[in-house]
Amino acid sequence: MSQPFQHDVLVIGSGAAGLSLALNLPRHVRVAVLSKGELANGSTFWAQGGVAAVLDDTDTVQSHVEDTLNAGGGLCHEDAVRFTVEHSREAIDWLIEQGVPFTRDEQAADARSYQFHLTREGGHSHRRIIHAADATGAAIFTSLLEQARQRPNIELLEQRVAIDLITERRLGLNGQRCLGAYVLDRSTGEVDTFGARFTVLATGGAAKVYLYTSNPDGACGDGIAMAWRAGCRVANLEFNQFHPTCLYHPQAKSFLITEALRGEGALLRLPNGERFMPRFDAREELAPRDIVARAIDHEMKRLGVDCVYLDITHKPAEFIKAHFPTVYERCLGFGIDITQQPIPVVPAAHYTCGGVMVDEHGHTDVPGLYAIGETSFTGLHGANRMASNSLLECFVYGRAAAADIIAQLDLIPMPRALPGWDASQVTDSDEDVIIAHNWDELRRFMWDYVGIVRTSKRLQRAAHRVRMLLDEIDEFYSNYKVSRDLIELRNLAQVAELMIRSAMQRKESRGLHYTLDYPDMLPEARDTVLDPTLGRH
Ligand code: FAD
Ligand code: SIN
Repeated sequence: MSQPFQHDVLVIGSGAAGLSLALNLPRHVRVAVLSKGELANGSTFWAQGGVAAVLDDTDTVQSHVEDTLNAGGGLCHEDAVRFTVEHSREAIDWLIEQGVPFTRDEQAADARSYQFHLTREGGHSHRRIIHAADATGAAIFTSLLEQARQRPNIELLEQRVAIDLITERRLGLNGQRCLGAYVLDRSTGEVDTFGARFTVLATGGAAKVYLYTSNPDGACGDGIAMAWRAGCRVANLEFNQFHPTCLYHPQAKSFLITEALRGEGALLRLPNGERFMPRFDAREELAPRDIVARAIDHEMKRLGVDCVYLDITHKPAEFIKAHFPTVYERCLGFGIDITQQPIPVVPAAHYTCGGVMVDEHGHTDVPGLYAIGETSFTGLHGANRMASNSLLECFVYGRAAAADIIAQLDLIPMPRALPGWDASQVTDSDEDVIIAHNWDELRRFMWDYVGIVRTSKRLQRAAHRVRMLLDEIDEFYSNYKVSRDLIELRNLAQVAELMIRSAMQRKESRGLHYTLDYPDMLPEARDTVLDPTLGRH
């Protein structure tokens, strides 16, 4: 049997949320940071546009709060919005201290106290997005990782897939506390026991539940599914954000065209060159994402076309290349010179607004278990996340959860004698084709039935199919050894079921949840809260 691992803090996830929590803990605290693939595998590395924060002298906390509330369709928790925005400047100062090379604005240096270039994105009434050209996530991730590598107290462990949380309840003990997690080591195929005083879910979102997504492969909602199985409530999982502009090209898998292009003046056009956003919203291309994605979907269906076009050719070529070098190079690789040609784009699943319910310290319902970043539900995003608020949430809540852990560190003993993973009843699978088939089926029906425009009938169909899949997966899981694919499929199917159930409960259209059967918004805004201790699961 493999050796148990013991740490003060077990952080599952090495993106913006996980790394900022780890770096905000003191150097005497023993921390493990896990990634199920390489450390860079999360969404953080791929973030383009930037981080929203109140940095310009003409901007205010109140304005950022109001923009977030407006984009969120009446469902944001104002206290969470205010808490996040009030800590935005402090979060950016911390990132600058960690060495993040944000793009400077030499012209603004004399005019305002912050000397960085700020761009605009949908829903923001000010320029407030600080960025590192159009590769902000890579710049942030690289800087934070470099800092983490210099900390002897932080153990960075790749290719480790957390399977399930170890709780007192699971072990049949008195109490509810989380004591760590069972983790598959992909290099040995063994399942290790990780014991920890505190466990943190920083596992990112679940956009991989859809056939077309901007997200990297690992975005399978593992944290949401693990927390659910451990007894945590989840909220607002019907709000799946579709980014309006992902590159449409047969060879381009999940490449995003940043909203900052529209922030700097890019226009959406139909195949005949006509603009259409003015027909949908007075804010035109800079309307919040739900509105722009729905407008594109509507026009594509109306005209029976495969994509629409994003056009920035009216800007000087030098400006485009300087501000958007990543998008320029990637498109050029596909034969599209964005300084000369409009870019073919389609909407794709991008962000999971709902998640594991937490308070402002990142506490979940299970003592000793925290959730931060995209896997969590803080109340910040409401029915539609405003662009570039998600990285901000990772830093603000990563720091808040670290402070909370520090305050309790001496009060909580290290869990002892945790039982190992029991693999005595399972064998090697000889039918991996079933896993691949179920993956495809799940992602396709979620795209077709639980997508940008929904109906009650489509949701019922999806609910029926997901139940059949869950039964099949459960049987497979009970009989065969775990693999990364099986773990992810099990989690994805569980999260899909929660998303469908949440969507069926919402009898209105609000923000990202749009259904033809209930096209109007109800007067009262309510969260959809699912509680595993009450219903079936
Ligand atoms: P992630 O960065 O996704 O990291 C998840 C981590 O968890 C990974 O290390 C993964 O390996 C690990 N993990 C998951 N499951 C397990 C498991 N079972 N066991 C072990 N490890 C596990 N937001 C903005 O604010 N601004 C932007 O400009 C922006 N641009 C974006 C562009 C793209 C293409 C995408 C996809 C997203 C963008 N977003 C942006 C959203 C933002 O990047 C994400 O919400 C944010 O990075 C999530 O960070 P995280 O730390 O919560 O998770
Ligand atoms: C983008 O750059 O368009 C993504 C921004 C975000 O998801 O917040």
